Amino acid sequence: MSSGVRSHTVPQADRVAMTLPRLLEMKENGEPIVMVTAYDYPSATVAEAAGVDLVLVGDSAANVVLGYERTDLVSIEEMIVLGKAVRRGLRTPLMVADMPMGSYEASDELAVTSAQRLIKETGAQTVKLEAGGVCAQRAKAIVAAGVPVMGHLGLTPQTATALGGYKAQGKSAKAAIRMYEDAFALQEAGCFAIVFEAVPADIAATIAARLDVVTIGIGAGSGTSGQVLVFHDLLGITTGHMAKFVKRYADIHEQMVAAVAQYGDEVRSRHFPEPDHVYSVEPTELDEFRRYLDQESLASQKAWDWEPLP
Ligand code: KIV
Repeated sequence: MSSGVRSHTVPQADRVAMTLPRLLEMKENGEPIVMVTAYDYPSATVAEAAGVDLVLVGDSAANVVLGYERTDLVSIEEMIVLGKAVRRGLRTPLMVADMPMGSYEASDELAVTSAQRLIKETGAQTVKLEAGGVCAQRAKAIVAAGVPVMGHLGLTPQTATALGGYKAQGKSAKAAIRMYEDAFALQEAGCFAIVFEAVPADIAATIAARLDVVTIGIGAGSGTSGQVLVFHDLLGITTGHMAKFVKRYADIHEQMVAAVAQYGDEVRSRHFPEPDHVYSVEPTELDEFRRYLDQESLASQKAWDWEPLP
């Protein structure tokens, strides 16, 4: 752990599973809600051990674990594989599965089918979809089918190209009004929470204060009920350009490169493996094994010597 990072892990045995009513209670009591993404079993066990409230199997997996350039390239099948692994590592946080682009926009039927697939095949309790407009209608259909939905407004990476790139949203009064209307449409659709991404803090706080549902910010200031960060960004596993809103709590990439490079050096210089890393064998067993090999090679030598000429 890097210096300056304090440990706040909650004893596992004391934690009870997060529920939707408990999330709402946290919002109403002004208790900040902690959400982080996870994409596999190890990241899920870290989120569990750290005592977060919500875990999102985000389609940011496209960028941070699958190496795609954009999130709209990830498929529902890929999200399901990742979601299943996350489920195995989680016990208490509420699990949210992101609906990838193409899995919900076209019709209510598609949205419900995809949401139910994500729930049944990954074991997530809730799903998240992006944007307002027609997507509020899709959210309503999914909620009506019994699946809790989290909305996502502001910078919605699946449609970043249409939004003019990865940049803050809701910066003009007109755009803020549209976001406010979309937020209310998602709330009326029955969403239990809404993520606001890359939105000016004052706009996000003003909208959040008027909503009854839980609000989660990422690059949206501290006026929301909670915060979310991408696991690989906050741990410094991701390299290269970082969004303004990312705070890095560790530099794991550097540590991983240093560790693998040291391993390579030690293999090449024959310093690894050390005596502690090897299994021993009883000398009598080893002797017997070697005697057997000696006899074997003697026997095959004889067979070779006596082989008749054709
Ligand atoms: O996919 C994701 O990680 C997200 C969060 C940034 C909210 O949608």
